[in-house]
This record gives sequence, structure tokens and C-alpha cells, in this order.
Amino acid sequence: MSNVNSCHSQSAITYSQFLMSDSLTKVLGIWSLAWTLPVQVSKTVMYNSRSSRNVAVIGAGAAGLVAARELRREGHKVVVYERGQKVGGTWIYDPNVESDPLGLEPFRVIVHSSLYDSLRTNLPREVMGFRDYPFVAKEGRDRDPRRFPGHWEVLLFLEDFARDFEIMELVRFETEVLHVGMEEGKWIVRSRKRAGADRDDLLIDSDEVYDGVVVCNGHYTEPFIAEIPGIDSWPGKQMHSHNYRVPDPFRDQVVVLIGSSSSGADISRDIARVAKEVHISGRSIANETIGKQPGYENIWLHSMIKSAHGDGTVVFQDGSSVLPDVVLHCTGYKYHFPFLDTHDIVTVDDNRVGPLYKHVFPPLLAPWLSFIGLPRVLPFPMFEFQSKWVAGVLSGRIVLPSPQEMMEDVENFYSKLEAAGWPKRYTHKMADYRFEYNDWLATECGCSVSEEWRKQMFDATRRNKQARPETYRDVWKDQNLFSQANEDFLQYK
Ligand SMILES: Cc1cc2nc3c(=O)[nH]c(=O)nc-3n(C[C@H](O)[C@H](O)[C@H](O)COP(=O)(O)OP(=O)(O)OC[C@H]3O[C@@H](n4cnc5c(N)ncnc54)[C@H](O)[C@@H]3O)c2cc1C
Ligand SMILES: NC(=O)c1ccc[n+]([C@@H]2O[C@H](COP(=O)([O-])OP(=O)(O)OC[C@H]3O[C@@H](n4cnc5c(N)ncnc54)[C@H](OP(=O)(O)O)[C@@H]3O)[C@@H](O)[C@H]2O)c1
Repeated sequence: MSNVNSCHSQSAITYSQFLMSDSLTKVLGIWSLAWTLPVQVSKTVMYNSRSSRNVAVIGAGAAGLVAARELRREGHKVVVYERGQKVGGTWIYDPNVESDPLGLEPFRVIVHSSLYDSLRTNLPREVMGFRDYPFVAKEGRDRDPRRFPGHWEVLLFLEDFARDFEIMELVRFETEVLHVGMEEGKWIVRSRKRAGADRDDLLIDSDEVYDGVVVCNGHYTEPFIAEIPGIDSWPGKQMHSHNYRVPDPFRDQVVVLIGSSSSGADISRDIARVAKEVHISGRSIANETIGKQPGYENIWLHSMIKSAHGDGTVVFQDGSSVLPDVVLHCTGYKYHFPFLDTHDIVTVDDNRVGPLYKHVFPPLLAPWLSFIGLPRVLPFPMFEFQSKWVAGVLSGRIVLPSPQEMMEDVENFYSKLEAAGWPKRYTHKMADYRFEYNDWLATECGCSVSEEWRKQMFDATRRNKQARPETYRDVWKDQNLFSQANEDFLQYK
């Protein structure tokens, strides 16, 4: 597989990169410089050769894999830290669940993936794949050729990607990053390697020094739980969708499920096949849809839960109540970076990770710290564009605005969200401008913007899902876009 990156052009560095030139860095720590110097110096400095940096990537999921590929293509030296035994992150289905079904116990053994057994993709494979490495159906006994395949097919795709681009050799498996901190202008990454297959085996800790750190640790592992008045005295069982795998334990039970997004929608139908009753409660459920769901014998929609009681009842805001065995929180996840110590330059506040320029670079630490994968846009293509951007900026090929300009951009963005009435927790959601964002990144990197068929297919899938929520994965009408996509993919064979 070719390792040539074909879409770039410029050769200039930012002011902060100039500050990172070796002589300056040796004399003064970059961090003190970044924090104290005024930023009104000329934005760019022409630069004729690309710099190769030592870069640590945290995580070998889809984001870490494509980040590693782009960083190496750009000429950087890359180490990928992965606490698991395989590449693929979220897409490694694990039948085990955590000891605390709500995922609140801080010292629990973490199970990374939130996949459930029946999960199929909610995007067609054509839209989902990388730009230059499409997710095409392959022959093979274990393969799933459907347009919306089962989760194992995505894992096979990521394994193919890692193999074809020889990423495995960059990954340190079973090596967990414990701490990332700054010292004298460099990042110190402390990691722990398990030397052996057993839990009691030798653990080896080490500190290593890097110019840059790219955070790709995923953000669907740390559950977010709804607060319910009275829940402490309620006698039933609570859990989060992170720990849902199969419907069998819910046989003949009454289940209240909170949240009506992707997990809530899928899991409620999965459970309804065996449960006695499934009651879906959510704060975004429209009043007119409340009640028994057409086409189902045992699914009801409700307003948000108002309270839970010691006698076992759960009361909804409209006054109705049920007597459930289980409350299942399908309430999403928290961004969580337990290893990252930036002296509060980067914080997580109501699920806003910030301040981050374009959801990637903290202005005061750019480009030496970056985050891939925070926005909830088309994941794989976005990871690819963000990674190209980070790699190009780190080498000096792509120019960033000054820290001050980046900070102003971030503040403007937050003001716009606020003016539009968007809650902070939606900062990285980007529902209506996902393609604008990807196209902006593509332009920064000197790449062509997202293909028209991809945009149209995404919209067609969304409409189809609204019209046929149960069957959209198997019944579609965008055959023309499907053909265009597959024609386009021929160039990458
Ligand atoms: C239930 C579910 C269904 C989804 N369905 C779809 C879908 O249909 N289509 C789609 O495009 N996207 C889907 N997504 C989104 C999915 O998260 C992305 O597609 C993508 O897999 C995320 O990749 P990532 O690399 O950012 O994170 P992850 O895949 O989570 O990878 C992060 C990696 O970092 C490692 N790691 C974490 N902390 C450390 C540490 N301290 N040290 C070392 N390693 C660490 C983890 O072990 C993991 O391997 C789904 C997500 C969920 C939760
Ligand atoms: N392939 C698939 O089919 C599939 C299946 C499952 C998940 N996924 C993916 O996995 C990711 C996570 O999805 P998710 O559904 O688990 O999480 P999510 O998209 O973040 O949705 C969480 C839901 O819980 C609601 N919620 C949060 N806190 C609440 C509270 N206190 N009270 C009431 N409601 C609350 C949210 O409502 P608000 O919007 O009002 O905050 C939202 O509806 C997404 O990327 C999704 O696409 C994919």
C-alpha cells in the first residue's frame, strides 16, 4: 500500500512552530514561551524543509490508526500506545461487562467497547470508510458484505487497514498511558506495560519524551448517567447501555430506558423482543409521540422521569407511572482524559473539551497537543482529515493562526453556540455543519473536499432512517449514489 500523501502543498510554519526551533527550545521551555509571550508577531515564517517530530499517539482505534498513518506519511517518528491487545478500539466486541453496571465505580476494571451483540452500523459502508481506503465489501467466510454490516465487519476493515499500511509495527500493545505531562518544553508520557498474559504479571512503567502528543483515546467508554430524584431509595436495578450486550437478561421484565438517541432506539427494539414492557423516557421526546408505539405490542414513549420511589414506582413528568425491574440509562458518554495533565489549559466542562481550535488544537499548546475524533461528524473520514491536518502542522507544512487568533476563533464559536441556544454539552455535536467542517479541514490540508455522493448518501440515509427506523439498514432507495460511490472507489484499488 502506498505511503505517499498526495494532497498537500504549502511550506510555511506558524509563529509557535518557529518558537519550537531547536535552539530556542533548548534555551527556554516552549510552555513558558507559549504562556507568556505576546502573540502579535508575524503569523508565518517561510520554511523550506519539513521537520520530523517524535510523536506519541494514544489509542489504536480508527482515529489512532489513521493518525499514525498520516504522521508517518509526513515523516514523523510515531509510537502508538494501546492498552488493549488488538487494534480496532470500539469495534472489538467484548462479551464481558464491567463490575459496576452503571460504570460509576472509579476503580473498576474498564471494558473499553460499548458494542452490543446485535449492533450493525448506522451508516452505509460507502459513507463510513476512509477517503482513500474505502470500506468495500470483501469475499471471505467471516465477512459481512451488507451495506450496513455487523460490528465484526468494521473490525475486520480496521485490521485490514492496519495491515495494509503496516501500522502494527508502530503499536505498543497492552501498554496503557497513565500520565501525560509537560516538562521543560517536551511531553513526558508515562505508560505501563503488562509483561505476560495474567493479571498478576509484571508491570513495567516507563517515561518517554515526545515533541507532540495526539490524543485518540475514544469517547464512548465513560458513561453519563441521568439524575433521577429519589433513585437512591428505589429498589430496582440500574445500568448504562455501555454494559448492555444481549437482551436475554431482560426476558419478561419491565424496563424503563432513558434516552432516545442511537443506543436508546436500537436497544429498546432489541430488548422488546423478550421483555414484558419497554418504556422509553427522554427529554427530547415530542409530546405528540408519547404513548404506545404503533407496530409494537410492548413499547411506550414517555416524557422524562420525574422521580423514583421506595415502593418501586417510577413517575414520569406527565404524571403517569410504571413499576419497572430495570432502569437502563442510554444517556451517552463523557469525554474523559484521566491521563492528561495540562495544568488546566484544557478542561472538560459539561462535555465541552476546550478551549480547542476547530475541536483539535488547544491554542496555547498547539500544535504539540492535539485531539482526533472529538466532533460527532462522520467518524472515519473526519479522523483522516484531522490527522492530515495535525501531521502537516507538526511538520511545518501547514500554517496555524497565532494562538491569540485561534483563541478568538474558539470564543466566537462558543458565542455563536450560545446565541443559537445550544447547550454546552452539544459543543462537539455539529449536526448541521458536519460536511462544512470536513471540507474546511480538507481545504486546510490541500485535499479535495468530501465527494458529492457521500454528502447526498448521508442525507438520504438520514431521511430513510426517519421514514423506516426498523428497516433502513436493509431497505434503501439510493442505488444511484451507491453506484457512483463504487465507481469512485475503483481509483483506490
Ligand atoms: C455503540 C456504538 C456504535 C457506533 N456505531 C458507529 C457506526 O455505525 N458508524 C460509525 O462510523 N461510527 C460508529 N460509532 C462511533 C465510533 O466510536 C467510531 O466509529 C470510532 O470507532 C471511534 O474511534 P476512536 O479511535 O476515536 O476511538 P476508539 O475506537 O474508542 O479507540 C480508542 C482506543 O484508545 C485506547 N485507549 C484508551 N485509553 C488509553 C490509554 N490510557 N492508554 C492506551 N490506550 C488507550 C482504547 O483501548 C482504544 O483502543 C459507534 C460508537 C458506539 C459507541
Ligand atoms: N451503529 C449504531 O447503530 C449505533 C448504535 C448505538 C450508538 N451508536 C453511536 O454511538 C454513539 C453514542 O450514542 P448514544 O445513543 O449512546 O449516546 P448519545 O447519542 O449521546 O445520546 C444520548 C441520549 O441520552 C439523552 N440524555 C442524556 N442525558 C440525559 C438526561 N439526564 N436525561 C434525559 N436524557 C438524557 C440525550 O438527550 P439530549 O440530546 O437531550 O442530551 C440523548 O438523547 C453515537 O455516535 C451513535 O451514533 C451507533
